[in-house]
Amino acid sequence: MSLKRIAVLISGSGSNLQAIMDAIDSGRINGQIVQVISNKACAYGLERATKAGIPTTHIDHKAFASREMFDDEVRQCIDAHQADLVILAGFMRILSPAFVQHFSGRMLNIHPSLLPKYKGLHTHKRALAAGDKEHGCTVHFVTEELDGGPLLVQAVVPIVTEDNEESLQNRVHKREHVAYPLAVEWICANRVHFSENGIHLDDELLDNSGFRLGYEA
Ligand code: GAR
Repeated sequence: MSLKRIAVLISGSGSNLQAIMDAIDSGRINGQIVQVISNKACAYGLERATKAGIPTTHIDHKAFASREMFDDEVRQCIDAHQADLVILAGFMRILSPAFVQHFSGRMLNIHPSLLPKYKGLHTHKRALAAGDKEHGCTVHFVTEELDGGPLLVQAVVPIVTEDNEESLQNRVHKREHVAYPLAVEWICANRVHFSENGIHLDDELLDNSGFRLGYEA
């Protein structure tokens, strides 16, 4: 099976990018990252990629007159590298419909909540304010609905009484580094399929929450 070509889009630290790079290095993921793109020049993830010998591109969204023009530049960059899979790893941009449609079925995002709960920003704060007992993260396919596409993997963490926004965020972040490489591993091994009933992992139809990882470290 040929290696899947992966483009990763970031805006910040890139710890999820790092987790995926590590899983590739260890041989778990049948893929190679062909390009890391950031809309922020200062994103630490660009340094992580450069250290690993992965080509990077900075595309400044502020240099474009419209969202569509920026997205089109990003699309061209991804297509020039013939990526099979596009991974949004802390890419803090709303995507235009044309961009999403172009990569339909082959673009993943990670979101720091148990979707469909807490789409958008400040997810940890909102989970605490609601008095939730559990929180977590979700890896999902990207559709035109913000944080709304089919769910592939969720990792659940407990919320404890001592938690504040930062402690909860840290606990969720650690689980992101497990959930995202797992989702990418499955896709690169051609184990994930769509049918009219939903997403299948091998022969198993996943429920609407996707595959659920429990509390373990
Ligand atoms: C992650 O927590 C990810 O879930 C979140 O950005 C962070 C990026 O961290 N993404 C979103 O909020 C997207 N809606 P990283 O740069 O260390 O991977």
